[in-house]
This record gives sequence, structure tokens and C-alpha cells, in this order.
Amino acid sequence: MTRHDLPVSAALFDYGDFIADQNEKSLLRFLTCGSVDDGKSTLIGRLLYDTKLIFEDQLAALERDSSKHGTNGADIDFALLVDGLEAEREQGITIDVAYRFFSTPKRKFIVADTPGHEQYTRNMATGASTADLAIVLVDARRGILQQTRRHSIIASLLGIRHIALAVNKIDLVDFDRQVFERISAEYLGFASGLSFASVEPIPMSARHGDNVTRRSDDMRWYPGPTLLEHLEAAAIDCDTADKPFRLPVQYVNRPNQDFRGFSGTIASGLVTTGQTLVATKSGRRSRVKRVLVGATDSPLAVAGQSVTLLLEDEIEISRGDVLSAADARPELADQFQATIVWFDDKPLLPGRPYILRTETDQAGVTVTALKHRINVASFAKEAAACLDMNEIGVCDLSTQVPIAFDRYGDNRVTGAFILVDRMTNATVGAGMISHPLRRARNIHWQKLDVDRRQHAAQKHQKPVVLWFTGLSGSGKSTIANLLEKKLNAAGRHTYLLDGDNIRHGLNRDLGFTDEDRVENIRRVVEVARLMADAGLIVLVSFISPFRAERQMARERMQEGEFVEIFVDTPFEECARRDPKGLYAQALNGAIKNFTGLDSPYEAPEQPELHLQTLGKDAEEMVDELDRWLNQNYIVADPA
Ligand code: ADX
Repeated sequence: MTRHDLPVSAALFDYGDFIADQNEKSLLRFLTCGSVDDGKSTLIGRLLYDTKLIFEDQLAALERDSSKHGTNGADIDFALLVDGLEAEREQGITIDVAYRFFSTPKRKFIVADTPGHEQYTRNMATGASTADLAIVLVDARRGILQQTRRHSIIASLLGIRHIALAVNKIDLVDFDRQVFERISAEYLGFASGLSFASVEPIPMSARHGDNVTRRSDDMRWYPGPTLLEHLEAAAIDCDTADKPFRLPVQYVNRPNQDFRGFSGTIASGLVTTGQTLVATKSGRRSRVKRVLVGATDSPLAVAGQSVTLLLEDEIEISRGDVLSAADARPELADQFQATIVWFDDKPLLPGRPYILRTETDQAGVTVTALKHRINVASFAKEAAACLDMNEIGVCDLSTQVPIAFDRYGDNRVTGAFILVDRMTNATVGAGMISHPLRRARNIHWQKLDVDRRQHAAQKHQKPVVLWFTGLSGSGKSTIANLLEKKLNAAGRHTYLLDGDNIRHGLNRDLGFTDEDRVENIRRVVEVARLMADAGLIVLVSFISPFRAERQMARERMQEGEFVEIFVDTPFEECARRDPKGLYAQALNGAIKNFTGLDSPYEAPEQPELHLQTLGKDAEEMVDELDRWLNQNYIVADPA
């Protein structure tokens, strides 16, 4: 969801001319959304065609292609013009966001063509994040669909204030006024719950051009504007240039000792030489010595320009910081509430670590509470334990380090972020920040005099977290128990956290769904961390089936303090041993979500120790662990 995704479809366009004659005109950014087959591509093709943006050679190619691939017989198939990719033609759906440019004597336009297929919510969100207006397309024969509501809600959450409701394919219902009025009324009723400033229903046939750029003779009953007239007149809400100055720092430009510039694209506001700015993270201030737009000195620069700023003082600023107007600073917090649109087929799980990325910054993040899910049909708030693909929810988030941001309502650039999966690096969600959490401000870290070094020194040992992971019945607890016995007998200070036992107390409220397992591990990670802080050798014996949480455990501990021990016993062997009789029940279907059966186990990829237990004696493996520990960890003999 960044502003840098454009432009993609340069093919139709001569930028030089565009920039030369268009500088004076206002720019409207809009997007189209709707279900598959509602005619989005045809509509955009029609707009481009009617505004004469198609050159002769492209027209010839289009005519050729239309007879080859098209679905319109001998007519020109406008969708082909827009669905430029061969792959898309073969699938018959539009698969990515494409930006198109066109202009009229009154205004210039950038349109994001976003796909309508269910799984492509991500692209919709990408296109919507910078748009002023959304055209919501509805097929007159099918009326308002779930998808129409979903897209409208996303558009509203993303801060789009104006909607043009294109009731398309009206020719296929004989230009029937009642159909149009029924659909308009239904949509207006639904949209009254959303925060749109205007909704303009327009009956049209994109294929034949009725009411797109040309008034339709078949709909004399319709008194309103054509779509193009509406687009030319639609209000563009307050400009980013009027907002407080924000420069998310992309990089520090330091070619030599004498030059230290902070580079990036201005997200909002304007900057002049002599102005006082503040580095948001440190709170340090300085005045602007020089403003470079590209390589040229300039007295000022505004939102959207790429600049390098030089300051009068040497203050600590690095990538991810935000240079801001000193009298209107962004928020700086590590806990905040946000609305999240989830894209991934694996659900968003509270407690699971993800990466949060803003324009230039990133930090580890977890959802600490899923407040509610938003029902995309009714806009109602619903209780939820996770967010599935295409769902939208309001969450509390906690980042590992504070990030600088604005409320999304105030600034759609500095108030937005994406969530990235740590294992696959895929973008899995987009978020809009509503406000920082007050508790983040009111709770401070208390410095204590007896620290972890003293705790450990007193015990004459180096703390370590021995993390045993493996299937139920793999032998984790048996091995951990024997090892603790041995360490204890040697005078070590230890504690064994065992899954079954912790689930009787601290975690007795948790079951075995994915979200409960994530929370189960999150809590035990925090307990193990405290125990390591207290100087103990901590043994943790939990199935801990997911890589993401084991990775989080590793990162929550001090460098080198986490030792992952994979107790590797094949499923069949665990089922054969079945020490608690659980496998028999699970295989009968009496226990659901059983690890290795209908709940996954993600084996460690690079554990510090990999114990293949088949044919080995527990004592033998414990001796091996003990030797390894003595060599690597325990530094002094107990007193
Ligand atoms: S974890 O997956 O969340 O890490 P944990 O180690 O706390 O699991 O608990 C696992 C223990 O719970 C197993 O050893 C087994 O005794 C018991 N158990 C009960 N139901 C299940 C289940 N559906 N899947 C796995 N273990 C279960």
C-alpha cells in the first residue's frame, strides 16, 4: 500500500506531453471496484477511448485482438485494452492493480484498475490507499452483492470520501428506471453507515457508452451527470500540502565528511530553508540549512517531491525516522489501535509475530488484542479469535520498538502500514492506525538495582533457555525431566516448564486451536524470559508446533540464550507409544485439532540440537545434552 506502485501502464502514454500540458489542471485519483464481470475494464477502456487516448496503432492492434480473444463479436472489446497482460486474457479476470492516465480539458485523472475476484482484496486496498474517489460498479441485472459491500467498506476504511455508483449494463435490463432506482436506494441505505461525503448513482452502459462520456438517448428519465462530467466536477479533498510537514527518511546521504543529507519523499506539508524540524524518534531539533530537490537547491519543497534536506546541527537520524514540523509532531508509540485488512490465506493470529512496515520504517509486531471483526455485509462489529482472508478487524498492536506515525484520518501516508509474514516475506495485511494506546504512554520501564548479571553471578551459571519441541509423546518431557534431575543433582539452579502442567494453571483457559497455541507459547516465552532473567537454567517442554512462535521465543531471549532442541520422533512411533492414550482417541476422531493429524507440526529447520530418538535410550540422549551444555554454557562450578 505505498504511493510508489505507479505507474504501470506507460504503453498508452507520452509522459513528456502529459506533464507539459497538465501541470495546471487538478488531478483526481480514483479507482474502480466491483465483482468479476461487472465491466470495470470495459468502463476504463471506454473512458480512455472516448477521451481519445488510444493511438492509431493501438487501435488497430485492439481491433485485431478483439476478433481473436474478445467476447464482443466484431465490436471492439474495451476490456482487452485494459487487461493488457496475456495471462489475464487467458484467465478472463484482471489480476493486478494497473494505473492508467487520461485527461480532459478540465482535469487529469489517474485510475487504479483493481481486480474484483474475491482473493484480490489486497490489490483493492493498494489502489484505494491514494484515491480520492471510487467508482463502485454494479451489474444492473445482479444488483448489490457481498463484494460490492466489501469493497465499499474497504474504500471507506481507506479514507475514500466520494463514491460514484455505476449501475452498469443498464441496456440489458431495457434501460429500466425502476431497476436503477431500486439499486440506488439499496446502496444509499447501506452506505449511510459509512463515512462517505458523497454518493452519486449513475445508470450506464460502459459497452455502448451510454452516460459514460455521452448522455444516453435511452435514459431521458435520468437527470444527473454522465460519469465523466461527475469525475470532472467531483470534489478533491484537502491536499496533502496543507498538512504538517512529514519526511519519512528513506536514507542518510553521506558521500563525504562535509555533507550529511536526509533523503526521502515528502509525505505531507512543505519545507523551507530556515524552518525548524524535529527528528521524531529522538525529539532533537534543528533548522533546515538546504533543501535539495533532486540535485538542485531550492528555497522550498512540497508533498510528493523527492528531496534531500541538510540541517544546521549534527543530530542522530536514521532510516525510518520522520523529520517533522517542530510544532506538529507525529505520534511516537509502540502500542496503538488500527484497522487491519487481512489478505493471506493463513489467518491473522493474535500473539503471532509479524513485521510491520511503514513508508520507511519497520519493526516486529504482534496483535495483542483483536477487538472485533467488521462484518463486511452489515458493517456490524463481531467477536473473533482470528482474521481470515479478506476479513477486516480492529486490533491493538504492539511493536518491538516505537514507531512514528499519524492517525490515518489525519494522514493517509504516515498513518498506514503493511504487515509482512516473517517466514515467507509476503505482504499479508494492510493497516490504518486510529490512535496510540494510552497505556503505552503511561507505563514506563522501572530500572531495578539487582539485574540479570547479578542474579546469574550469584548462581554461578549462565542462564539458558532449553526449548524442547516435538510431537506429543515424542519424549520431550521425559528427556527434559531427566536432564533437570541431572543438572539439579550437580547443584544447578533450574526450572522445568512443561506444557501439560502450565495448562493446568497459567494457561488453563487455552485449548488447541491455532490461536490458542500461539497464545500458549507467547505466555510461556514471557515466563521463560523472566526465569532466565532471574539467572535460571530454564527447560521448556511444549509441542510448540509453529516456527513463527519458536522464532519469536528465540528473539525474546538474549543473544545466544535460546537453545532449540528438536525431539524428533516420527508420528507413527508416537502413536504406537501413546503414553496418554490420546493418539487412539484422536485417530478415532474423539479429539480434534490433534498435532500431526489435523493440526500441523512445523519441524525446526536449524535447531541447535536434533535428537533422533528412534532406537536411542533417553539416558544416552540426556548425557549428550549435558555434555553439550557443559561445553557451551555453564561457566562456573556452583559454589
Ligand atoms: S502446544 O501445541 O500448545 O505447544 P502443549 O505442549 O501446551 O501444546 O500441550 C500439549 C499436550 O496437551 C500434549 O502433550 C497432550 O498431552 C495434550 N493434548 C490434548 N489435546 C491435544 C491436541 N489436540 N493436540 C496436541 N496435544 C494435545
